This record gives sequence, C-alpha cells and structure tokens, in this order.
Amino acid sequence: MRTRWMLGLVSTLFVVATAHAQQPAAPAAGAEGYAWDKACATCHKAIHESWAASKHAKTWGRLSNDERQKDCAGCHLTGPKTAVTEGGPVLNANVQCESCHGPGKAHVEAATAGNPIPAGLKKSPGESMCTPCHNDKSPHYRDFYFAAMKSLSHKK
Ligand code: HEC
Ligand code: HEC
Ligand code: HEC
Ligand code: HEC
Repeated sequence: MRTRWMLGLVSTLFVVATAHAQQPAAPAAGAEGYAWDKACATCHKAIHESWAASKHAKTWGRLSNDERQKDCAGCHLTGPKTAVTEGGPVLNANVQCESCHGPGKAHVEAATAGNPIPAGLKKSPGESMCTPCHNDKSPHYRDFYFAAMKSLSHKK
C-alpha cells in the first residue's frame, strides 16, 4: 500500500519536473536582446576584467533582499528593473556592459558567427546613458560630472 502510494507520488513529481523542464526558455519581459556580461568576456577580456574590478560590477550586492524587492533594484541592475533569473542566478545583476552600451545580443551572435558586426552598440556612450541612474532620485546621490567620470567606466 505504502509503496504504491510512494511510487504514485514519485511519478507525479517526475511528470511535474519534466513538464517544467520542457517549458521553452522564454526570455523575461524586457530582457530580449541582452546577452549579459559573461558573453562579452570571451572577446573583450581585458575590458571585462577592468569592469569586474569596478563598483558597477558590485551594485546588486549593495542591496539587502528586502531592498531588492523595491524601487532600489532598477538602478542596481542592467536592463529590466527587476531581477531576471530564468531559473538560475540573476542574469542582470549589477551595472553591466549593456547598461551603458545598449543590448548586445545581435552583436555577440554576429561576432561569434564571424559575420559583419551590426551597428547598434554605442561605441562611446554619452551622458544620457548614465543619468537615468546618476540623478537625485538615488538616496545616495552625489553630483555627477560626466566628462570627469566617463573614463572611470573601465580601462580599454
Ligand atoms: C565573438 C567576439 C565578440 C563578442 C562575444 C563581443 N564582441 Fe564586442 N566587438 C567585437 C569586435 C571584433 C569588435 C570590433 C568591431 C569593429 O571594430 O568593427 C567589437 C566592438 C565592440 C564595441 C565598439 C563598438 C563597435 O561597434 O565597434 C563595443 C562597445 C562592444 N564591442 C561591446 C560588446 C559587448 C557589450 C559585448 C557583450 C554583450 C560584446 N561586445 C561581445 C567582438 C565581440
Ligand atoms: C558605466 C558605463 C560602462 C560600462 C558598464 C561599460 N562600458 Fe564600455 N565604455 C564606456 C564608455 C564611456 C566608453 C568610451 C570611452 C571613451 O570614449 O573614452 C566605453 C568604451 C568601450 C569600448 C570601445 C573601446 C575603444 O577602444 O574604443 C568597448 C569595446 C567597450 N567599452 C566594451 C565594454 C564591455 C565589454 C563592458 C562590460 C565588461 C563595458 N564596456 C562596460 C562605458 C561603459
Ligand atoms: C543602471 C544604473 C547605472 C548606470 C546606467 C550608470 N551607473 Fe554609474 N553607478 C551606479 C551605481 C548603483 C553606482 C554605485 C556603485 C557602488 O558604490 O556600489 C555607480 C557608481 C559609479 C561611479 C563610482 C565608481 C567607483 O568605482 O568609484 C562612477 C565613476 C560612475 N558610476 C560613472 C558612470 C558613468 C560615467 C556612467 C555612464 C557612462 C554610469 N556610471 C552609468 C549605477 C549606474
Ligand atoms: C535613480 C537610481 C537609484 C535608485 C532608485 C537607488 N539607487 Fe542606490 N545608487 C545609485 C547610484 C547612481 C549610486 C552611486 C552614488 C551616486 O553617485 O549617486 C548608488 C549608490 C548606492 C549605495 C552605495 C553607497 C554610496 O554611498 O554610494 C548603496 C548602499 C545604495 N545605492 C543603496 C540603495 C538603496 C537601498 C536604494 C533604495 C532605497 C537605492 N540605492 C536606490 C542609484 C540609485
């Protein structure tokens, strides 16, 4: 009796688990077009290392779990203003490459396939890429001087 019940439970769990695994990995709303920072490291290794040592690479860790559920998240993440997990670690944690350069999936796919790289990524992001976060809605806002600060984004 008990074994049959257990078997039933196990197979039900199995069906639930496979049904879940078979769901197409639909990108989270607003996350389409992004490749996330690890995808950039392959070809832009030195820049990635330099960025990884900067504070922009640690902004998600500045927030408590509570704060991550609030409006704080938007300026401490890349792209969508809530955490994108797709069942794994937070893909858009921190202020990644694509916060400043724009979504890079098409760039990554073309470059990886050896096709001509489409225009689209910002080669030299302007001030308008920074001020959605660097403004007085930030509770820790300090003045922002683009000309003085842009070269701090990363080494080339
Ligand atoms: C497979 C290799 C490859 C990957 C992966 C890659 N890039 Fe590039 N990237 C290149 C190459 C090659 C160039 C130089 C293109 C040129 O000079 O025409 C470039 C140029 C750039 C430029 C300068 C702008 C331009 O269009 O010339 C930026 C910004 C950039 N990449 C950002 C990124 C970001 C952000 C990612 C990750 C989302 C990324 N790249 C991933 C190969 C790659
Ligand atoms: C905080 C904003 C910011 C972030 C985050 C950022 N960049 Fe940049 N990036 C810039 C700025 C600004 C420039 C232009 C610097 C200049 O013109 O002197 C630049 C320039 C570049 C260039 C062109 C370099 C050249 O030789 O002209 C590439 C390639 C690039 N970034 C890739 C990346 C990659 C890859 C990442 C993530 C690992 C990244 N960036 C993260 C702001 C950013
Ligand atoms: C998505 C939001 C966001 C964007 C976009 C953004 N930043 Fe930031 N920036 C932050 C946050 C959050 C911090 C605080 C990091 C910390 O102290 O933990 C920060 C910190 C900085 C710092 C201090 C870093 C240090 O190591 O002392 C500089 C400089 C800076 N940003 C420049 C820029 C520039 C220049 C741009 C645009 C090219 C830019 N940021 C775009 C959110 C952003
Ligand atoms: C409008 C965008 C924005 C919002 C909203 C935001 N932050 Fe930030 N946060 C930033 C930026 C940009 C910095 C870097 C400091 C600066 O120059 O403004 C920063 C820095 C920080 C720092 C580093 C400490 C420091 O003095 O630099 C902490 C911690 C932090 N934020 C926590 C929070 C919390 C908690 C909330 C929500 C209550 C929040 N942030 C909401 C943009 C934002």
